[in-house]
Amino acid sequence: MQIITTKQELLQQVEACKTLNKSIGLVPTMGALHEGHASLVRRAVSENDVCFVSVFVNPTQFNNKEDLAKYPRNLKRDAELLSNIGAHYVFAPAPEEMYTAEEMAQTFSFDFAGLDKVMEGKMRPGHFNGVVQVVSRLFYLVQPDRAYFGEKDFQQLAILRYMVERSELAGTFGSLRIFGCPIVREASGLAMSSRNERLSDEEKTTAVNISRILFESQNWAKEKGATVAKVQQRVIDAVNAVDGLEVEYYEIVDQTTLLPTDTFEHAIGCITVYCGPVRLIDNIPYGN
Ligand code: PAF
Repeated sequence: MQIITTKQELLQQVEACKTLNKSIGLVPTMGALHEGHASLVRRAVSENDVCFVSVFVNPTQFNNKEDLAKYPRNLKRDAELLSNIGAHYVFAPAPEEMYTAEEMAQTFSFDFAGLDKVMEGKMRPGHFNGVVQVVSRLFYLVQPDRAYFGEKDFQQLAILRYMVERSELAGTFGSLRIFGCPIVREASGLAMSSRNERLSDEEKTTAVNISRILFESQNWAKEKGATVAKVQQRVIDAVNAVDGLEVEYYEIVDQTTLLPTDTFEHAIGCITVYCGPVRLIDNIPYGN
């Protein structure tokens, strides 16, 4: 496995793959890798001739400086994990390699047809512009045939699909296809996240209640007289009743439009919860 830090070197390797007609899979990450990332990389390795993984804590998607500073970073450990599961190239650039000073100040703005105005987008203004800024740049550089993202960041996945399939950039990325991969959970049910590294043992035990309540809510949705509004409120109340957890939002929305829905068909519940100082997200599907 080769670690690349410059765009020039990356372009050379991509060019070499293209000349040999090799299919390319890309897994964009911000590092601090866990089993969730590993599942994406294993899939990319099995479905493509060559697998590129980017490890880059993208400053333009953080609207909170402290969150950016505290984001866990450990390239040595990440590289070991990636090498063990068969990734071929790791692209780990410095911020200055990815962006000019002007780009870093984030003037970039996309039209996501409202997908970015709800939930995470409402709570973290500009966040999805930053995500699309970095992911579209990675797509231009790596020219992948397939790119893999986790379903834990459900809204991010919906926005990236929109960007590739329907936005003004449609066609720009050739035959690129986006794949969403299921949430990987710890045995306790806690959704795997790089942010879990920041939880104390006690907070980790507390955080398990998030997925427990979400799974329970699938049964609440089947109870006689259950409505979306009632289940939504019941989840919020149940999570807030746990000492140490505070819900930022819980919204049951349509899986495609991300807009509020009054039916459980094709619905997904997306939650953001503060566990102490750590902001955690998770989601759960309802209906089909
Ligand atoms: O999901 C993430 O880790 C990031 O948002 C991504 C897609 C790697 C872009 O920085």
